[in-house]
Amino acid sequence: MSTSAKNSSIKHLASEPQSIEQAFSQKITLAITGASGSAYALRLLECLVAANYQVYLLCSSAARVVFDTEVGFKLPASPDAASQAFTEKFNAKEGQITVFGKEQWFSPVASGSSAPKQMIVCPCSTGTLAAIAHGMSDNLIERAADVVIKERGQLILVPRETPFSTLHLQNMLSLSQQGVVIMPAAPGFYHQPKSINDLIDFMVGRMLDHLNIEQSIMPRWGYQI
Ligand SMILES: Cc1cc2nc3c(=O)[nH]c(=O)nc-3n(C[C@H](O)[C@H](O)[C@H](O)COP(=O)(O)O)c2cc1C
Repeated sequence: MSTSAKNSSIKHLASEPQSIEQAFSQKITLAITGASGSAYALRLLECLVAANYQVYLLCSSAARVVFDTEVGFKLPASPDAASQAFTEKFNAKEGQITVFGKEQWFSPVASGSSAPKQMIVCPCSTGTLAAIAHGMSDNLIERAADVVIKERGQLILVPRETPFSTLHLQNMLSLSQQGVVIMPAAPGFYHQPKSINDLIDFMVGRMLDHLNIEQSIMPRWGYQI
């Protein structure tokens, strides 16, 4: 293809009528795994929808068990039904939340040519953390994280476990050395939380800060505190 033909196809794409993707401000991959903390994931998803993000959502089988246990939300196993359930729950726009199954290798998150440059795993089990640290890529969550690391995108993990074993800490160190942000689900108490929601918002507010999404769901040190 000649250079001028290539340039004209770029212009054509840019002036296309609004596609689903163009209707949203940004794309992000959110993976929810089977660590405790479903409420963080729900609040984060709610905030991403409010920020007009398009969300590619990946949920592990264990996450479905934890969701049911912790927040009584029965997450359907079928990706389409799960997309529908989340879309209704958060009153999201059509196409704003798309759930992909663990072996949907042809989904955009599976390749560096189309994956969002930002991904957050919230909450992140120590099992998924280990798999990501070792580049296992054995399911779509692990593969999507591997893609973001290799493409030098932004990957944030929100692990929850206590205490951490030496192995957990080694895995976290190795990921941190590759530029992955390790943000343990460890809310502060200096803002004098009055409710569990205040604690959840503390954590989710910090996640949004790292994702560069404007937020006022938590008080800021030195201003409101
Ligand atoms: C109710 C419940 C709570 C759990 N909490 C944690 C946790 O806080 N951290 C963790 O690493 N694993 C936790 N687990 C265990 C993981 O779900 C389990 O290791 C699972 O294999 C993780 O798989 P995944 O990484 O594919 O989601 C929990 C399991 C259940 C059922």
